[in-house]
Amino acid sequence: MSHQSVEEIKASAIQWIKEAGELIKSHMKKPYEVDTKQDRKDLVTEVDQKTEQFFIDKILTQYPDHQVLGEEGMGDEVQSLNGVVWIIDPIDGTMNFVHQERFFAISIGIYFDGIGEIGLIYDVMDDVLYEGVRGEGAFKNGKQLNPIDPDKHLEDALIGLNNSWAIPNRKLNEEKIHDLVRKVKGTRSYGSAALEFAFIAEGIIDAYITMRLAPWDIAAGMIIVNEVGGITTRVDGTDVNMLTGNTVICANKAIHHELLDFIETK
Ligand code: IPD
Ligand code: CA
Ligand code: CA
Ligand code: CA
Repeated sequence: MSHQSVEEIKASAIQWIKEAGELIKSHMKKPYEVDTKQDRKDLVTEVDQKTEQFFIDKILTQYPDHQVLGEEGMGDEVQSLNGVVWIIDPIDGTMNFVHQERFFAISIGIYFDGIGEIGLIYDVMDDVLYEGVRGEGAFKNGKQLNPIDPDKHLEDALIGLNNSWAIPNRKLNEEKIHDLVRKVKGTRSYGSAALEFAFIAEGIIDAYITMRLAPWDIAAGMIIVNEVGGITTRVDGTDVNMLTGNTVICANKAIHHELLDFIETK
């Protein structure tokens, strides 16, 4: 994709993300419908759906040949990553949105022929925008983020975990989980995968590991983290796939390596 089209698409996406943030805030002033999806812990609200629809209308009006893959299923049934694909989570952290009215984000990753070009994560209530463009760095509210510390190791790391990870599973038995929690400096659980990626890019946590994420949870974050020297793979070290669910490890190279080793061999 040409530099000019990346810049133009990014400018539109930023304008829409800010407008969507205002829309979300205005919906929050009135009652809205809250539903469950798979179970009582998996919430969706009419605000998630309306926000996704807002993006789809904007994107397809301006760029009718682009595809949109959104969590709430209002976009296209994306079968291939050919061309320009917007991967959107209209509200990442719906549980936080409903229960805390903060700590949620809009996440947009824009891919061209399968390569992540633009990543945007917008913390709506704090009005903080993280952005990354492939090869051009990562920024927080316009200020360039420094490369993450390449020399930090697991024992000095704060790592992001969520509860589905903490429940023993095929790859990690109880003993391994306990060992890992003992080994690291601390664990954190923010309830928004997109923000956990943004926090790695910012250097305020050092890793994120989870056993189940969808493409829209990670599409933007991977691009942003990549720009500051972080890497993202599945827990077996293979590439994540933007058309399926994935296990995920994201960290600097050293911690990433240690975590892979830990999961495979310990
Ligand atoms: C969820 C959040 C949460 C993560 C879940 C995701 P949603 O996204 O990112 O932190 O643990 O796996 O599904 O449903 O709030 O967009
Ligand atoms: Ca959801
Ligand atoms: Ca999500
Ligand atoms: Ca969501």
